Amino acid sequence: MIKYIILFLCMILVLSCNRNQDIITNLKFFDTYNPNIINGEKVFNKSCITCHLYGTAGATLLTNTKEWEFLLNSKDKKEIYLNVYNGFIGQNGPMPAKGGCMNCSEKDLFDAIEYILSVNKFTINH
Ligand code: HEC
Repeated sequence: MIKYIILFLCMILVLSCNRNQDIITNLKFFDTYNPNIINGEKVFNKSCITCHLYGTAGATLLTNTKEWEFLLNSKDKKEIYLNVYNGFIGQNGPMPAKGGCMNCSEKDLFDAIEYILSVNKFTINH
């Protein structure tokens, strides 16, 4: 009997772990949200800076306008956002989920992306 109880508890553990992976695929706020660049800069300086300031781990440099322009022209903005949120393997290296900022909200991440783009005079918003 105890074996089954342990098995049951393990199953719950595994299932709840899956839920914690927190993958999102639809963005209700995306089209209407007005990003807060001041907050985005704070988030960037706290989390994204480790890779995106010097290109650590293959990350695109904050000030590499050509690369960001290429990215905006070649990918859908929602795809870019979801890649940041969920993490993905880029051609030059792996981008961690939420840019490593586990307590960042969806909007914090949106703000951080908008901050990166605004430094290059682009915007993710429309
Ligand atoms: C551990 C290093 C690391 C950290 C920390 C990091 N990134 Fe990245 N990021 C990467 C790498 C590597 C790529 C992929 C580059 C490539 O191969 O094109 C990437 C790609 C991106 C892209 C382009 C996504 C796409 O679809 O091509 C955006 C936007 C981005 N990061 C934003 C952020 C933001 C915002 C943060 C902070 C919240 C952050 N990153 C933190 C390494 C990092």
